[in-house]
Amino acid sequence: MEFRHLGRSGLKVSEISYGNWLTHGSQVEEDAAKLCVQAALDEGITTFDTADVYAGTKAEEVLGRALKGVRRESLEIFTKVYWPTGPGQNDRGLSRKHVTESINNSLRRLQTDYVDLYQAHRFDNETPLEETLKTFDDLVRQGKVLYVGVSEWTADQIARALKIADEMGFDRIVSNQPQYSMLWRVIEAEIVPLSEREGVGQIVWSPIAQGVLTGKYLPGQQPPQGSRATDASGSAMIARYMNDDVLARVQELKPIAADLGLTMAQLAVAWVLQNPNVSSAIVGATRPEQVRDNVKAAGVKLEDEVLKRIDDVLGTVVERDPAKTVSPSTRP
Ligand SMILES: NC(=O)c1ccc[n+]([C@@H]2O[C@H](COP(=O)([O-])OP(=O)(O)OC[C@H]3O[C@@H](n4cnc5c(N)ncnc54)[C@H](OP(=O)(O)O)[C@@H]3O)[C@@H](O)[C@H]2O)c1
Repeated sequence: MEFRHLGRSGLKVSEISYGNWLTHGSQVEEDAAKLCVQAALDEGITTFDTADVYAGTKAEEVLGRALKGVRRESLEIFTKVYWPTGPGQNDRGLSRKHVTESINNSLRRLQTDYVDLYQAHRFDNETPLEETLKTFDDLVRQGKVLYVGVSEWTADQIARALKIADEMGFDRIVSNQPQYSMLWRVIEAEIVPLSEREGVGQIVWSPIAQGVLTGKYLPGQQPPQGSRATDASGSAMIARYMNDDVLARVQELKPIAADLGLTMAQLAVAWVLQNPNVSSAIVGATRPEQVRDNVKAAGVKLEDEVLKRIDDVLGTVVERDPAKTVSPSTRP
């Protein structure tokens, strides 16, 4: 495993991290979840990403049990707050009340005294930014949170947060967690340039486009049984990529991966890691073999000629519009 700094912070994270959205507490049984976490640890992954909302809060519990007994200092545990975790008006968003209550619940479920990174899962248009940033800063002072970050915020929202933090002396955001893959490059135009200047690192999600970039979904055919595209909660999320134009072009990446002696998943993960603003690629897995496959992307260098071949194959199916980074206009 290779390690990178989380943005300009002193924290080092594994270049490939393991996330449990849609899998732990949902698509896979607890035994399979534990085997995946053990495979991640065996392969040198030290960074684990979850969220209060995953599997209706069950994912944090599963991860807490799976990591029990592992030396805490050897792990970086990341979680998030924003999406609804209960029925009430204040069970969502980034108000002082919900953030304070949610971190306490996350720490209990994860069986830890602190998380290494606490992330605002989306921008909350109904809470003053100062209120959220002050609350995050308080959690850092209380030792419950070591670093603060955001997820799917626009360049403008990140810039506003950094300005307030600098003016008020609050802890600065060190990371952003956006979707990023060969197929989804919307951060490149605005977020990456700002983040490079400001020392914000990207911890990118769905680097394999939820499995699509493995090439296992064939155009014109039913998805393989047991894959995310056949899962009750996962199929809606992967739907944007499940069209024949995208799937056919992905098949054309196979010779590129083969020429490099890489699997398709390794090529996809290696691709996001070529961007120096990326601190870590968060991979998901339903089986330990997937983790063992994906981690081999760490340290792989892709030459410019390979990147060009990939761009030529994918052509117009690549999404680049920065306006695709959006948070709900009102709280969900
Ligand atoms: N901040 C956010 O808003 C946000 C949103 C989404 C995700 N995330 C984070 O990012 C993490 C990763 O997201 P993701 O799970 O969508 O990432 P991903 O790595 O793009 O997709 C993971 C899925 O692809 C399939 N897969 C992975 N490796 C494979 C391999 N070697 N061979 C065949 N299939 C393989 C597996 O699904 P099947 O076996 O079911 O096909 C696996 O569950 C999440 O767990 C979460 O921590 C954050």
